[in-house]
Amino acid sequence: MAGGQPFLAHRAADLVGSIIDSSTSLLARQTHDIVRFAMGAPSDDLMPVELLDRYAAHAVPGKYSYGATEGEPALVEQIVKLQAAHGITTTTERITVTTGGMQGLDLACKLFIDPGDLVIVEGPTYTNGNATALSYGADLLEAPVDEDGLVVEALPDLIAQAGRTPKSIYTIPNFQNPSGVTQSQGRRERLLELAAEWGSVIIDDDPYGLLRFENNPIPEFSQLDPGNPQVFSVRTFSKILAPGLRIGWVDTDPGLQPLLINAKQAMDTCTSVPTQQIVTAFLAGEHLQPHLDRVRGIYRERKEAMRAALRRHFGDAVRATDPDGGFFLWVTFADKRIDTQALFEIALAEGVAYIPGPAFSVGGNFHDALRLCFATSTPERIDEGVARLARAVDLIGATR
Ligand SMILES: Cc1ncc(COP(=O)(O)O)c(C=O)c1O
Repeated sequence: MAGGQPFLAHRAADLVGSIIDSSTSLLARQTHDIVRFAMGAPSDDLMPVELLDRYAAHAVPGKYSYGATEGEPALVEQIVKLQAAHGITTTTERITVTTGGMQGLDLACKLFIDPGDLVIVEGPTYTNGNATALSYGADLLEAPVDEDGLVVEALPDLIAQAGRTPKSIYTIPNFQNPSGVTQSQGRRERLLELAAEWGSVIIDDDPYGLLRFENNPIPEFSQLDPGNPQVFSVRTFSKILAPGLRIGWVDTDPGLQPLLINAKQAMDTCTSVPTQQIVTAFLAGEHLQPHLDRVRGIYRERKEAMRAALRRHFGDAVRATDPDGGFFLWVTFADKRIDTQALFEIALAEGVAYIPGPAFSVGGNFHDALRLCFATSTPERIDEGVARLARAVDLIGATR
């Protein structure tokens, strides 16, 4: 019985918490100095707080009223313009504003997943994506990821072993959370073919795509196959602007929008109107592009600082991914005896926080790996944090 309480619904047993989100509260309770590589959020100093505050103070009619469930029309128009500026053709009928990317994932699962349905997820993947699918009763099938993203070639065999086709495929194509890798164009094309063959929906979760700081963009699923109703795209302003605003959107086949509206009405009626108005004003003021240009350069510098610090303090003892954008590096230890969950407490005592690998795996895999967020610390703090991590690894080695 879930939680030992007879009055709980069966589904309560499938509500998996997020180690990532819990780490926010855990870190808030610490009183000593900690280099924070755990959370995947833009740092406060990189958010355009003054501009957001200025727009928050504006009195716009209807500011404190209920808004349209599908989103404030002015924001929807700005989102269409933003997409067009990045070569993505979409229309207002395809866009539904959501309360962050998480609500987009929840809506996708609510619409497409029945209890017992098979869902392919990346291993490793974003914990809360797994948790959302599990809360709708999905059976998750973890598929491997390499430097070119989800290993799509492996899927037909995995499906043959499972003995059934997936109802949906959850993928994070750009600078994946947690690995930082990007899915190649060839694999995106093959995934579209397989989804067509199996009748599966691709849940295309891309919060980091506009944070590319190296190499050229790879076409999105919607560019490779415009109008494909089996592609459900989840986007958010959390990483490119500010997560506390809780504004995201989904870009889907317009035929789905009435269902999305019904589903969202049973969740929150509408996304916060004041924050939608802040984002609308920020976009209409043409502040996003200069903001992105600025932060991308800083993130590139921080990623390089983190890779250099890993080389300096660990040498060949770890392997790290080399992301072209986003927030995260994935670090794997050469010594397979290292358990990053056991290491966590020692590292925290040493003054550095990260997320252990198993948090990103429904099967509890990747005990010898961890996720580091390079986006929120200066190069000096990154070096200090990696040095502390190396000390923690020495300490755990000494106890063996
Ligand atoms: C891959 C991925 N999807 C979705 C989200 C959720 O975004 P939001 O904070 O807008 O709900 C995150 C946030 O960490 C993420 O990394």
